[in-house]
Parts: sequence; structure tokens; C-alpha cells
Amino acid sequence: MEFTTKTKQIKPRSKNHLKMYFWVLSFLRNYMWLVIAFLLLGLLIHGITMSIPRLIQHFIDNTLPMKDKQSLIEVLGFLIIGVVVLLCAKAINNMLQRLISERTLRDIQISLFAQLRRLGFSYYERHSTGETLSMFTSEAQAITNIYRHHLPQAIHLLFMVIIAFVMVFQIHFMLSLIIVPSLLLYYLFGARFAKKAALASRSSHDSRMEVNQTIYNLLSGMQEIRANHKQAWSFKQLSEKCSVWRTKAIITMFWLQSRGTVRKSLVHFGLFAVFVIGIILVKNDQISVGEFVAFVLYYEVAIGRVTTLITNLTEQRVLMYQIERIYGMAAETPEVEEPVSPAYLQKVKGELEFRNVHFQYRSDVPVLRGIDLNIRPGERVAFVGTSGNGKSSLLKLVGRFYDPAAGEVRLDGIPLTRLSNDQIRGSIGYVFQETYLFGNSVKENIRFGRPDATDKEIVQAAKAAYAHEFICELPQGYDTLVGERGVKLSGGQKQRIAIARMFVKNPQIVLLDEATSALDNVSEYEVQKALESLLKGRTTLAVAHRLTTIMDYDMIVVLNQGQVEEADTYNALMERKGLFYRLVEGGDRAG
Ligand SMILES: Nc1ncnc2c1ncn2[C@@H]1O[C@H](COP(=O)(O)OP(=O)(O)OP(=O)(O)O)[C@@H](O)[C@H]1O
Ligand SMILES: [Mg+2]
Repeated sequence: MEFTTKTKQIKPRSKNHLKMYFWVLSFLRNYMWLVIAFLLLGLLIHGITMSIPRLIQHFIDNTLPMKDKQSLIEVLGFLIIGVVVLLCAKAINNMLQRLISERTLRDIQISLFAQLRRLGFSYYERHSTGETLSMFTSEAQAITNIYRHHLPQAIHLLFMVIIAFVMVFQIHFMLSLIIVPSLLLYYLFGARFAKKAALASRSSHDSRMEVNQTIYNLLSGMQEIRANHKQAWSFKQLSEKCSVWRTKAIITMFWLQSRGTVRKSLVHFGLFAVFVIGIILVKNDQISVGEFVAFVLYYEVAIGRVTTLITNLTEQRVLMYQIERIYGMAAETPEVEEPVSPAYLQKVKGELEFRNVHFQYRSDVPVLRGIDLNIRPGERVAFVGTSGNGKSSLLKLVGRFYDPAAGEVRLDGIPLTRLSNDQIRGSIGYVFQETYLFGNSVKENIRFGRPDATDKEIVQAAKAAYAHEFICELPQGYDTLVGERGVKLSGGQKQRIAIARMFVKNPQIVLLDEATSALDNVSEYEVQKALESLLKGRTTLAVAHRLTTIMDYDMIVVLNQGQVEEADTYNALMERKGLFYRLVEGGDRAG
């Protein structure tokens, strides 16, 4: 069965898990005083609860035989005061627990989100959105479980167990030794069931994640599925995953039940022995009836809670497996580190320089191999070359989404590694093939370029991007909702909104990555016009598949196997009859 093979693969990495557990707990440090109050109240609550068997003992041994009214009133009074204090303390304790866990969970989520931002571009290229999303939902749930359930329960259990053990030993040491074989038996058999149950529930959780991931994939690919009439296929995919999940859930239930049964049997086995020995002791006057009753009550708490505590800790260990991925992400260092005290350019001119730049994603596959280029402010440079030759990667280096493996990229003479990301990204405008529009108004989508832009500036930008006209024709003009749940725009319209964003942002350098290659001729013409007006006076680095669109560029760089094969103007390259000439002749399209 798949389930058993999977559980066998899990290797204990307790040392690492301990580190992870401390990381989870480290978020509590901001709420130290609340935690201390929670612990003190816990002590009070269990102190009172655990004194009740002693009270019963007193009642049986002293109050009952003497028929003493005064003592009865004392016992009742103590009980009433105890219950009132207990109820108040429990209410406050619950509130504290809620407060601590909710605040801590919020802190964890924010810190994970901040870490995702810090990791940036390269992280998103390596992990799917579905995976990251599930980290925030399913996997963060493991941390939630620890804070909302396991940790507070473990603390309460620990208090109870300690008090119960002390009491049991105090009442009758010899009799209390029965706990030893009971615990030994639980350790031999019960713990195994607890571990099986915990591992099964982990496996079932993994399965549920797979179901989630499948639903995400199927929803994302809905258009493809419908277009290819693959509804039956998608249904089968999902139902297979669901049935695996269902089987695992049933197995989990089985182990959980077994665990409960083993625990209860052990408690009863021990109680039986306590009764037999206890009755003999009472007969021989070695223990009073009251003491015996108190002993039984404490014994029940001690053995019952110890086994629950062991289960709790086992479950927490298993939760650690789920937290592994989140922890891995939290502990990851960003590939691109910002300088501590960055250099600052008063005014960015837009000069770019590549000095012997080498770059690779994986150490064995070089992508760029010794690029030397000098791009003056305001110059337009196009990069061409067949697919996979590193054109997009080169642009990523300019935005410092990655650092070169060797050599350096300089902006206005300063290496990018010495500038702040704010300054680099602030002076660069990126237009991708696909434009992402947020589920917001057109106006806000343009304002994304610069959050403090006025409405007037937004309209000006839209006009410059040849987008004003079509925006005015939308149902609510600039206030029309776009994005996934709003009005659908064509590829060319989206592009022009992206270009309007750039006008608002007003960067010195513009990077275009095949911005127009997905468009039909009419849209391309309009976008081209918009781009013409945007690029005026700005340094431009463009990756182009349609070679006719770059005829008037200042320089065309032909990349081949990660190196610059040729670099010149369109006409000069055509005359040279080299690789570029062959690309043009080969169908006017590279790639
Ligand atoms: N995030 C990544 N991780 C690992 N390898 C990558 C990554 N992105 C690109 N590559 C690899 O690096 C090489 C260069 O890719 P790049 O995207 O720069 O090529 P390109 O010239 O833009 O191609 P195209 O014309 O198809 O867009 C390719 O072999 C590609 O498989
Ligand atoms: Mg590319």
C-alpha cells in the first residue's frame, strides 16, 4: 500500500526539528508578559483543580465520621470559592491563549510574506504559485494547530501531570509504583499506536494538499480543458486524488481509534491493580479510605494525562514535517543581497555597462559567457538570437533580479551591487509580453507605476500611451474594474495600460521583453506607436522576435550561445551577411 511505503521513508531528523520548533516558538518573544500571565494563571487553575481530591479526602476522613457541621461549612465554602476563582481564571486564561495565538499567527504570516518579498524574483521562478499559496493556507495550518491547540494543551497537561504525580507519591509511595509498569506498557505498545496515528494523519494531510493543488491546477487550466473538451479527464484526475485522500483519512481514523482504545485500556488496567492492592492496604489500615479515594482520583489524572501528553508531543513532532517547507523558505537567504549602505545616484542618466558578464542558473549550464557592452544614455539596443540564448536572462541582470556569476553590470558607472534595489528598480521600467492587471480600476492599475500620481497625470499618461480613447469607451471609463473579475481587455489594450504605467513611473531605462510579439498587426501598430512615444530619450533594451520592429535601433546585439556574435546597426549587420542576416532571411523571426 502506498501509505505504508510513504511512512517508512520518513527519517527522523530530530535535531533539525528541534531547531524548527524553537523557530516557531521564537515568535512568542514579543508577547512575553502575556505568556508569563498565561503560565501563572495555568498554575492557579491546576492548583485549584488538583486540590479537589484532597478536599474529598478530608471530607471522607474527617468531616463525615465526626459529623462536624463547622467542618462541612468550611469544606463547602472552600469549594464554592474555589469554583468561582477557577471559572474566572479559566475565562481569562482562554482569552489570553486566544490573544497570544492570534497575534503570533499574524506575526508569522506577515514575516513569511516579508520573506517572500525579500527572496524576490528567483524564488518565484523556482516555485509555482499553487505551491506558495498552499504554504500560506495548508502548511501554515500546522503552525496554527501548534499555537491554537498543541502548545497550550501541552502546558496544561504538564502542570496537571506534575501535580498529580507529586500527590500520588505523597499519599502512598508503594502504591504509586503501579504507575511504572503501566507507563512501561504504554511506552511499549501505546506510543507505537500514537506514532502510527500521527504519521497517518500527516500522510492524509499531504494527500489533501495534493487535492488542493490539483483543484488549483485544474481551475487555472480551465480554458485549455474546455477548449480540448477534456472535462472527463479533469474529473478523473480529481476523483483519483480524492479517493486516495479518502482512503488515507479512513486509515488515520483507524489508528486514532486504536490509540484511544490502548490508552483507555492501560488506564483501566492500572486502576484495577490500584483497586486490588488499595483494598488490601485499607483493610490493613495502612491507608485511610479518604486517602485511597484521593489516590484513585490522582492516579487517574496522572496516567491519563501522561499518555495524552505523549500523544500531544508525538503529534507535534509530526507537525514539524509539515512545517519543514515553510521553515526552509524562512531560512533561505535571498540570492540578491542589498548593500548595507548603498551608493546613491542623484540623477540617473541611464548609462549601462556590461563588463565580462558570466551568468548561469545552474552551475553546469552557462547561460551568458563573457558579455561586454556599453550602452550610452538614451541609446536603443535590441537583443536578438534564437530561443534560449539568454536574452531574457540578460534583462533580468539589468533589473538585478539575479547577480552575475562573474563580471559586473554598472549603472552610470556604479556596479548594481552597490546600489539599493529601490534606486535600481525605480529607474527601470519593464514591459513584459504578458501584462498583469490587478483586480482594480483602470486608474489604479496605471497608478501602480507611481502611487502618488494625480488623476491628471494618469490621463496624460494614458493619452501618451494611446490608451485614453479605448479607456473612455469602457463602461465606467477610468473607474472600470479590470483584472480577473472585471472587464476583459485585449492583449494590445493591456499592453498600452502597461505602457501608460511606465509613463507615470517615468524611468530612465526601459526594458522590453518581446512586448509586441503576441499581438496581431493592428494591435501591434498601436502598441508600437505608444512605445515610440515612451522610448523617446530613455535608454532602451529590447528583446525582439519580429526583426522589422527594430530597424531604426541604434544597435542590434546578436546573442549566440551566451556570447555576443555581432553588434551593429540593422543596415550594417545586413551588409555583413552574418548570423543576423540569416535570421532575417530565415523568415523575419528569430526563435
Ligand atoms: N529561472 C530559470 N532557471 C533555470 N534555468 C533557466 C531559468 N530561466 C531560463 N533558464 C534557462 O536559461 C537559458 C536562457 O534562457 P532565456 O530565457 O534567457 O532565453 P531567451 O533568449 O530569452 O529565450 P526566448 O527567446 O525563448 O525567450 C535557457 O536554456 C533556459 O532554459
Ligand atoms: Mg525570453
